[in-house]
Amino acid sequence: MANSNLTNAKRAKNDEFYTQYSDIQKEIEAYLEYNPDVFRDKVVYCNCDDPFESNFFRYFVLNFNKLGLKQLITTSYKPSPIANTQLGLFGDDKTLTKSKGRPKVTANKFIINEVHDIDGDGEFNLKDVAKQLRANKHNEWTPLEKDGDFRSQECVKLLEQSDIVVTNPPFSLFREYVKQLVEYNKQFLIIGNLNAITYKEVFPLLKENKVWLGNNYKVNGGAMFYEIPEGIANLDQVREIKINETGKKVFITRVQGVRWFTNLDHGRLHQPLPLMTELEIIKFVTKKPFDKYDNYDAIEVSLVKNIPSNYKGMMGVPVSFLDKYSPGQFEILGTSDNGLVDDKFKKTLGLTKKFVEDYYKAGGTGAYKEGNPTAGYYENNVAKMAYKRIFIKHKII
Ligand SMILES: C[S@@+](CC[C@H](N)C(=O)[O-])C[C@H]1O[C@@H](n2cnc3c(N)ncnc32)[C@H](O)[C@@H]1O
Repeated sequence: MANSNLTNAKRAKNDEFYTQYSDIQKEIEAYLEYNPDVFRDKVVYCNCDDPFESNFFRYFVLNFNKLGLKQLITTSYKPSPIANTQLGLFGDDKTLTKSKGRPKVTANKFIINEVHDIDGDGEFNLKDVAKQLRANKHNEWTPLEKDGDFRSQECVKLLEQSDIVVTNPPFSLFREYVKQLVEYNKQFLIIGNLNAITYKEVFPLLKENKVWLGNNYKVNGGAMFYEIPEGIANLDQVREIKINETGKKVFITRVQGVRWFTNLDHGRLHQPLPLMTELEIIKFVTKKPFDKYDNYDAIEVSLVKNIPSNYKGMMGVPVSFLDKYSPGQFEILGTSDNGLVDDKFKKTLGLTKKFVEDYYKAGGTGAYKEGNPTAGYYENNVAKMAYKRIFIKHKII
């Protein structure tokens, strides 16, 4: 019990990582490059975003006119430990009464219909937005009735009114979050973990090309750097302390394996991977034929760059393949995780008892799941199990 409380606490903390402005900007620019009108006349909804903290809110409000947005809706989540505690946007706003001890928190709804330089300093910035929100009838800042949970009735109503959802949702609720977006048929650009690719609820969407990975501007090979509010920063997580674009001190943490997930079209999706033939790879790179799995009707390709250009059958590739995936070039057939591949690609015998014994004898430590194993094969008589694999095949050769 104590343990699960700890895990929950850790999870809740990990849900409070804030995306950096520059990462949002770089990713969105890739969609604009492909289609400059992608956000034109659209209602964008950021439904996990405390406007006092969120760079999503900041990005969309500051670029409202440039993107041609029709409306920006943002809702914050009341139980967030930082809700309404960082008054960066509104300064010392007396309307946000702080009670003694814990600050009084409410979930808020912001609806922006119009932005411009209203203080006449020749520049449009967040101070203008703050002024406009107070004074301007065209924009709205009101408390939500409930806690701002993305599944609550009032947030679902706002979701229904929106066209594109853009946010970094809580990592711990990613499955439910994606399910809701698909159910409501929304366009979206959201952040998630690479591990989510093989979730039962997510993988079928990737396979059917209803969701794909974003352009993924990446720093440090797929890790993303996040801001964590000072009050809740766990020092073990902190990599750097810096002053961000708003002049606020922030703690920076690094999270491995983070990706953008989207159903918005972008240029990289239409660029096929340049590849060598099977013979060229064997001759110049691996110096040996491709291994075949014992339990799946596919070859093992441990590096994406070694996918043979002329192999007609099924190939097992690392999940990071999706960073390079072009739907015109490949078809996704399944994954070794969660048994999400058609039975016709599974070899009936599966991995033999002897294979499993040999695997552990050879020092293998991966978990073997009876009836639903990871892809396994012998390489020079040593039993090996590949890490999570995605099964693909070429569309046209
Ligand atoms: C990973 S943080 C990202 C925050 C923000 N989107 C960003 O990247 O700057 C996830 C946010 O979702 C909020 N949240 C957690 N559970 C939620 C829920 N059930 N509904 C809506 N928001 C939630 C958290 O309080 C937190 O602010």
